[in-house]
Amino acid sequence: MSWSRISVYTAVVLLLSLLVAVISACAPQRGAPAPAVGPGETGFPKMTLKFNHVVARDTPKHKAAERFAQLVRERTNGAIEIQVFPNSELYKDGEEIEALQTGAIHFIAPGTDKFGVLVSEWEATALPYVFSSVEGFKQFEDPDNPVARELFEKLRPKGLLGLAIWENGWKHFSSSKRPLIVPDDFKGQKFRTSGKPDEAFVKALGGSAVVMAFSEVFSALQQGVVDGQFNTWNNIYTQKFHEVQRYATSSEGAVILLYGVATNAQWWDSLDSRTRQVLFEALKEATKYGNELAAEENRVAFEKIKASGRLEIHVQTPEEAALWRVAGEQVQREWVSQGRISQQTLQKLASLGKTR
Ligand code: LMR
Repeated sequence: MSWSRISVYTAVVLLLSLLVAVISACAPQRGAPAPAVGPGETGFPKMTLKFNHVVARDTPKHKAAERFAQLVRERTNGAIEIQVFPNSELYKDGEEIEALQTGAIHFIAPGTDKFGVLVSEWEATALPYVFSSVEGFKQFEDPDNPVARELFEKLRPKGLLGLAIWENGWKHFSSSKRPLIVPDDFKGQKFRTSGKPDEAFVKALGGSAVVMAFSEVFSALQQGVVDGQFNTWNNIYTQKFHEVQRYATSSEGAVILLYGVATNAQWWDSLDSRTRQVLFEALKEATKYGNELAAEENRVAFEKIKASGRLEIHVQTPEEAALWRVAGEQVQREWVSQGRISQQTLQKLASLGKTR
């Protein structure tokens, strides 16, 4: 090869390498974080967000989350996509709070008792007989009510921010051993509970209890690790708990299952105000939709459970409820005396729904 040929060859190789370097510098890098979002055609940043939860699809929580996703998709012309993951598909109880703190996901809606691991004051909302009436917890669900807002902000030092309160329904006890009518019936029985307030309620009623992730309840009941559980008709039916239990007591008025929809505070604050606004407004509408659905979904689930003939169901009388209330109020006093919650929060919750 002559020198002139070599130099032409070298020049071509150099040119090609330069071209490859330029192209690869412009191409997205595999494994690198997603590029910083800039305003798209719609004026909204292009984002895919994750909403994790632990219950089934046929629940008020999943339906409200899907409605939220749909409204956001419509109002941002598809720029913001919210993927909803039910059934602990991504993260189970406990894990989802951590995943939200690290920013791996964007929204969760756990039972409000589950925020107790971060801020014990949240447990006030899950204590037995804490709300004086249905109007009381309905008022708590209003996103503008100051009692909920105060609790939402208390999550900030832990990296989270509360955005809305969702509802499922009243919790009811079931057992594989015997009917649960008076507190004495709880003796010698072990129950799965979702958090510390329910655990204390069972103990005050005379039974024993263990806090366990929701995803593990069915097999714990089936294998006799626990004798019973405490949940809404909707959760009992969609998880098939009634198929591995024999007795249940319908006890409206003791514990209402509420959810706190939360996001990662730092991520939320980093959004531009228009994006925050569209998310918040859509969430408000989804909240109204889901919370209006809850009572009916639970009524239907109760009918289906009765029709299945699997459970012997006792409907609690006011006299029996009065005995359970004694145990519930004992738990409220314990929570205040142990400093887990303040008397002030308890009073604020109890006074909701009362006409002045
Ligand atoms: C439970 O753990 O029993 C509930 O909090 C599950 C849920 O999210 O409804």
